[in-house]
Amino acid sequence: MKLFPETFLWGGAIAANQVEGAWQEDGKGPSTSDMQPWGILGETRLRTPGDSNIKDIAIDFYHRYPEDIALFAGMGFTCLRVSIAWTRIFPVGDETEPNEAGLAFYDRLFDELAKHNITPLVTLSHYEMPWGLVEQYGGWGSRKTIDFFERYARTVFERYKEKVKLWLTFNEINMSLHAPLTGVGLPENSSEAEIYQAIHHQLVASARAVRACHEIVADARIGNMLLGALMYPLSCKPEDVFKALQENHGWQFFGDVQCRGSYPGYMQRYFRENNIALDISERDREDLRTTVDFVSFSYYMTGCVTTDEALNNQERANILNMVPNPHLESSEWGWQIDPVGLRTLLNVLWDRYQKPLFIVENGLGAKDSMNAEGEIIDDYRISYLNDHLVQVREALEDGVEVMGYTSWGPIDLVSASKAEISKRYGFIYVDRDDDGNGSLKRIPKKSYAWYREVIKSRGASLKE
Ligand code: BG6
Repeated sequence: MKLFPETFLWGGAIAANQVEGAWQEDGKGPSTSDMQPWGILGETRLRTPGDSNIKDIAIDFYHRYPEDIALFAGMGFTCLRVSIAWTRIFPVGDETEPNEAGLAFYDRLFDELAKHNITPLVTLSHYEMPWGLVEQYGGWGSRKTIDFFERYARTVFERYKEKVKLWLTFNEINMSLHAPLTGVGLPENSSEAEIYQAIHHQLVASARAVRACHEIVADARIGNMLLGALMYPLSCKPEDVFKALQENHGWQFFGDVQCRGSYPGYMQRYFRENNIALDISERDREDLRTTVDFVSFSYYMTGCVTTDEALNNQERANILNMVPNPHLESSEWGWQIDPVGLRTLLNVLWDRYQKPLFIVENGLGAKDSMNAEGEIIDDYRISYLNDHLVQVREALEDGVEVMGYTSWGPIDLVSASKAEISKRYGFIYVDRDDDGNGSLKRIPKKSYAWYREVIKSRGASLKE
């Protein structure tokens, strides 16, 4: 029987702004996420005084983390991916001294994980940055933000160097072209040249964080984090095949810089032909040569591309403007479900980078309901996760090195795209609705016991 390796890390992934709440507690400053009460996609209205944001309380993880971590431990988690809210540590972003109360919170969190033998995997920046840096410096549009980020990264590496050995730099770093405020702190109507300049600064900051991590944290491993947006050609027409290759370059560009240490030729051509002249210093080029130790990514769906204009103009399936794949079913949110695509993506990334891979997000956002007995029978979620994990096992058999799997949202949380809580991913239900009503009580769903069995049996309980 094919089993997952003994060293394989099993768990779940959450992000500070989607679970913690306590948005103004213990000296925390406002972040880009706090300013986006309607989510990160397709909405340009920002919070104004008097508005509230479902994330202000979220699922109150800030106060309830011991209970939640005990529930994760109950499933046998060996790993939990969390992020640090930059604004808890540097509330405005340009301070020279960190906020001790913010640092103390993550000490408590990591200590709690240690009690349960759960390894933390920590993202430095998951879809949020200090609003102060956006207002005063124009976010990542300014070179100065590289230094502010490096100060923040060095501060948390120093503080947690005995407690955290696995790190990630920026969540889904390739999302900035689709969500510039969230990704790089720029207005939604920024030009492509402005966004790529900000991305350049962020790539340099990521490389500097990798270097700092190795200087400060003994035995650390630090990775990048990509939205694994695998695209297929809609047909075998050579032009469609080439277009798919180009679309894939759209996200591979980030991985190529972070894994190979320089800008790929196809991107230089794109910049040349689109009159994008980036300000790249010699020092930047030198910094970029520091590459990541492993590659992490999220995986939810695949999409298709075509050169057929009529098909291109029809309604699109999801956030990445993909043409729907006629062979796949979609989730309630129109995200196309493709377990085999995960095996393909693992192989593509392994072939391309030859670095260990970590699946740090995967899961099904769905509406859950409780039956008369108070149970949540989420067979659809079980089936989604089962089928994806079967494909991970196949990829391991293919010889791909996979460090672990952290499913997205092991406990229900606020979704990023539209700030909904009704889009639930968890093994654990949280009693709260999109209007903020509910007791915040935690209730394990059917998938809770299912995942525990998968972890315990190292995948033997999965159904082919
Ligand atoms: C990823 C993000 O894009 O997908 C998460 O890293 C996000 O922050 C997740 O929550 C799922 O997306 P959504 O919009 O359903 O929350």
